Order: sequence, then C-alpha cells, then structure tokens
Amino acid sequence: MSFKLLSVVLASLLQLAAATTTSGNSSCAPATCGNLSITYPFSLSGVQPVYCGFPAFELTCADAGRAYLSRAFRHRLYRVLDIFYGNDSFVVAVDVDSSYAGDERCHVPDFNVSTGFSLLPVNVSAAANTNLIFVYNCTLPRNASVLLRPPCTRPTIGAYVPDGEGNAPPDVPRNCSSVSVPVRRSSFRNASEEPAREYKRLIDEGFVLEWSPTAAECDACRGRGGECRFVELAFQCICSDGRPCRNSRGKQSSI
Ligand SMILES: *[C@@H]1O[C@H](CO)[C@@H](O)[C@H](O)[C@H]1NC(C)=O
Ligand SMILES: *[C@@H]1O[C@H](CO)[C@@H](O)[C@H](O)[C@H]1NC(C)=O
Ligand SMILES: *[C@@H]1O[C@H](CO)[C@@H](O)[C@H](O)[C@H]1NC(C)=O
Ligand SMILES: *[C@@H]1O[C@H](CO)[C@@H](O)[C@H](O)[C@H]1NC(C)=O
Ligand SMILES: *[C@@H]1O[C@H](CO)[C@@H](O)[C@H](O)[C@H]1NC(C)=O
Ligand SMILES: *[C@@H]1O[C@H](CO)[C@@H](O)[C@H](O)[C@H]1NC(C)=O
Ligand SMILES: *[C@@H]1O[C@H](CO)[C@@H](O)[C@H](O)[C@H]1NC(C)=O
Ligand SMILES: *[C@@H]1O[C@H](CO)[C@@H](O)[C@H](O)[C@H]1NC(C)=O
Ligand SMILES: *[C@@H]1O[C@H](CO)[C@@H](O)[C@H](O)[C@H]1NC(C)=O
Repeated sequence: MSFKLLSVVLASLLQLAAATTTSGNSSCAPATCGNLSITYPFSLSGVQPVYCGFPAFELTCADAGRAYLSRAFRHRLYRVLDIFYGNDSFVVAVDVDSSYAGDERCHVPDFNVSTGFSLLPVNVSAAANTNLIFVYNCTLPRNASVLLRPPCTRPTIGAYVPDGEGNAPPDVPRNCSSVSVPVRRSSFRNASEEPAREYKRLIDEGFVLEWSPTAAECDACRGRGGECRFVELAFQCICSDGRPCRNSRGKQSSI
C-alpha cells in the first residue's frame, strides 16, 4: 500500500472516529424493536451505548421484535409493550412462562409483580392501573364468585379485583395465599364484564409504570441540538462538540 493511499485510509478512519465521538446525537439516535421507538431514557442493547438511557431501562430485542427489560431477575420476564415519552410512562407485561406449582396450565405470575419493581427507578401508576388478586392454597367454595375457568382448572385458584377499600369478596377464605398483578384500567371493556374471567387478556395487556420525569429536560436538551445521556448516575446533555452542554446538569427541568 502506498503512503498516499495509507494516509487517505487513515484520514477517513480519523474522520469516522471524529464523527462518532463528536456528532452530537448520532450514537444515541433512536433505535427500533418491533414497532417501538427506543430513545432516552431507554437504550437498546447492542445497538446503542448504555449511556443512552438509565442502566435499568436497557432493553433487549428478541424474537419477532419483542423488547424485554435486560436486567430483570429472570430472563425475558418483563416485556415492554409501549413507551409514552410524552408523559414519562411505559407499559410492561409479565411474560408468564412460570406458573403455580399447583397448576402448570395456569398462566399467572408466581410473585407479587409490584415488588419486582421495588429496586427500579419506577412507580406502578396508581391512576392508570388497578390490581388483580389471585388466591390459592386454600379451600374455595365450589360456587365461589372468584373461581377461574380453564386453563386454571383446579378449584383452588381464584381471582378478583378488590373493592375501593382493598377488600376481597366475602366468599374468599382469609387463609389463602395470594399474589397481586397490576393491570391497566383501560383494559377493562365495560362495567358488566367480570375482570377476573378476563385475567389472561388483562395480564397480557400489561400495566403502566412511571419514571421520574425526564421529558422536560430531555426536550430542552434536544431543542438545543444536544443528545440526552445518563452518565455517572446523572442526566447529561451532550452538545455537538461532544462535550456536556453548559448548564447541562440540573437546571433544564425548570426551563
Ligand atoms: C439529531 O437528531 C435530529 C432529530 O432527531 C436529526 O434531525 C439530526 O439529523 C440528528 N443529527 C445527527 C448529527 O445525527
Ligand atoms: C405496537 O403495536 C401494538 C399492537 O399492534 C399496539 O398496541 C401498540 O400501541 C403499538 N406501539 C407503538 C409504540 O406503536
Ligand atoms: C400516558 O399516556 C398514555 C397514552 O395517552 C396513557 O395510556 C397512559 O396511561 C398515560 N400514563 C399515565 C401514567 O397516566
Ligand atoms: C402453597 O402450597 C404449596 C404446597 O401445596 C407450598 O409448596 C407453597 O409453599 C404454598 N405457597 C405459599 C405461598 O404458602
Ligand atoms: C384454611 O382454613 C380452612 C378452614 O377455615 C381449613 O380447612 C384449611 O385447611 C385452611 N388452609 C390452610 C392452607 O391453612
Ligand atoms: C354458594 O353456596 C352457598 C351455600 O350453598 C350459598 O350460601 C352462597 O350464597 C353461594 N354463593 C354464591 C356466590 O353463589
Ligand atoms: C403478596 O403480597 C401479599 C400482601 O402484601 C402477601 O400477603 C403475600 O404473601 C405476597 N405473596 C407472595 C407470593 O409473596
Ligand atoms: C362487556 O364485555 C363482555 C366481555 O368482553 C362482552 O361479552 C359484553 O358484550 C360487553 N357488554 C357491552 C354492553 O358492551
Ligand atoms: C414514586 O412515588 C413516590 C411517592 O409518590 C415519589 O416520591 C417518587 O419520586 C416516585 N418515583 C418515581 C421514579 O417516579
């Protein structure tokens, strides 16, 4: 290789390096998985650097365009169905391939779903969700209003939505074990429907999680041509020179 050609190659390599380190939002440009557009505070594993979002919000794109939270305590446990960047919330469904020991055909999570999120920077939206409670390990009356139809075949599993005060229907014994699963209020079709009978659809349609608001500071950053990142446990706005924009920490949320 001639010296001239080598320097041309080197020069273009340097340009490429310069482009990837300084071109502002190119490296965190939105990625897609299925019909989801993935951008700050989410990042797509293998496509965007992890600093493009909160570490806990790193997604893995798996078979047929399904997006999962990468860092769940079980593999492919939480599927992300939708992301609402405008109001800092997203929809997650538990991918239920685990089940109760008592009934392997019953596709119900075997843990209290909200507690699975206690270590993540999210809240289960109280406004957008209600809970579906599953009871088991107790003797339910054969005619109980909460007994589940197939595929939950055993007469020991029931489901209900608690009343406004969190009470179970009167035919649920007090000594049952239980798990609770948040479901979207908007998944309820009408008042005459019994939610417990629709439990499979309700679980599949997921529930709404809220993250602490980032939309305002990230919009302000993008408005200045910057790229939103999350570095050293803090929001950063990276400007087109590849450096943090001045005043990038802190004040944006009030703009
Ligand atoms: C930055 O993002 C904006 C809006 O998404 C886009 O129009 C622009 O081309 C991007 N700039 C670079 C250098 O990728
Ligand atoms: C993706 O498609 C599903 C089903 O077609 C729909 O419910 C959901 O709202 C879509 N999400 C986005 C981000 O368009
Ligand atoms: C955010 O907006 C979406 C779409 O309008 C809605 O379905 C969702 O419940 C909202 N999130 C919260 C936390 O209210
Ligand atoms: C329910 O009963 C099974 C055995 O019948 C037992 O292994 C399990 O620990 C019980 N679950 C709870 C939460 O008590
Ligand atoms: C729950 O209480 C009923 C009677 O009230 C009893 O028959 C049953 O064995 C109890 N079940 C458990 C798991 O303690
Ligand atoms: C179940 O049967 C008992 C006694 O036969 C009756 O008292 C109770 O009202 C019935 N419950 C329902 C939900 O039908
Ligand atoms: C779920 O939470 C309820 C209420 O806090 C508790 O009684 C129950 O034991 C929990 N279930 C499991 C499986 O941890
Ligand atoms: C309410 O929902 C149930 C179950 O989805 C359906 O069978 C019924 O026709 C609906 N009723 C009305 C009035 O829409
Ligand atoms: C969750 O809710 C609590 C109490 O309302 C609030 O202090 C906290 O900031 C919220 N966290 C997130 C991530 O939204």
